Amino acid sequence: MNVPMVGGFPEYRPRRLRRSAALRAMVRETRLDASQLVLPMFARSGNRERRPIGSMPGVFQLSPDELLKDATLAHQAGVPAVLLFGIPDQKDAQASGAWAADGIVQQTVRLLKKELPSLLVITDVCLCEYMSHGHCGIVHHADGKAEIVNDASLEILARAAASHAAAGADIVAPSDMMDGRVRAIRAQLDAEGFIDIPILSYAAKFASAFYGPFREAAESAPQFGDRRSYQMDAANADEAMREVAMDIQEGADMVMVKPALAYLDILRRVKTEFGYPTAAYAVSGEYSMIKAAAAKGWIDERAVTLETLLAMRRAGADILITYSAVEVAGWLRGV
Ligand code: PBG
Repeated sequence: MNVPMVGGFPEYRPRRLRRSAALRAMVRETRLDASQLVLPMFARSGNRERRPIGSMPGVFQLSPDELLKDATLAHQAGVPAVLLFGIPDQKDAQASGAWAADGIVQQTVRLLKKELPSLLVITDVCLCEYMSHGHCGIVHHADGKAEIVNDASLEILARAAASHAAAGADIVAPSDMMDGRVRAIRAQLDAEGFIDIPILSYAAKFASAFYGPFREAAESAPQFGDRRSYQMDAANADEAMREVAMDIQEGADMVMVKPALAYLDILRRVKTEFGYPTAAYAVSGEYSMIKAAAAKGWIDERAVTLETLLAMRRAGADILITYSAVEVAGWLRGV
């Protein structure tokens, strides 16, 4: 911007538009609205089960009946969508719980769509919660080494996604980071007649220490090694653009950047370079940090949460996935 200068001062000095709340609101560039929120939820089997997650105060593993109650409250609060994760009773090396027609996510989706048809139900498509070893793909052991096998994992992921759609899911969200999974899932959905079910791909998902509390919540910590062979290196931004481009080419309808707060530059680039509907996932560790500091009285939970979400919107996010969705919806209504 070129402001003409006269004797060292701008010839014309623009007013600062901050003097009244009404004026500030009128010129505000970015807004938070409940319509942008997605609440992640954890489903487990049983009845009237509500198991607190130690590292995520206020978040629970819920049996389907309890999950329905919380989803109803969320929906009433103005949260339009939930993102479902499942904790199966049994884990194995084929992740059979991920695609079972009566798996925990499939059951819960059916219940939610029956009781709350206008709630958007997004399902997380991954294998780590269902694998005895806790990895997001099939593990092959050879020569004393364990390796995640990409291509063999695709078929199971596609089957899982189609089983979610068959149960009534509105959107499927693959979070595994295997290469080619969006294409495999799109093909399977189309083959089974779910041509209108969109894919929200976790396109730029970084190997992050911020997932720590989630792994307690989903009981999905890898039993050996880590996820660095398939999740992205936090140092790489250009590579994130390639990952997003690939997912879009393969058929992703919406793309996600995850985590959010430490990756705002990635969010901005993804939104600017691709112009696709873009989601930011404020992950478990982001939530827990705020909760912990707020519990100590060191920060203001409401103000900090809203500020971080606003920053994600400013960086380019259309969709905000946050464990605080219900509180946020309330704060935005002024209650
Ligand atoms: C795994 C998955 C993870 C999260 C969402 N899906 C964890 C991981 O990759 O280890 C993390 C979400 C969070 O931390 O809130 N499929």
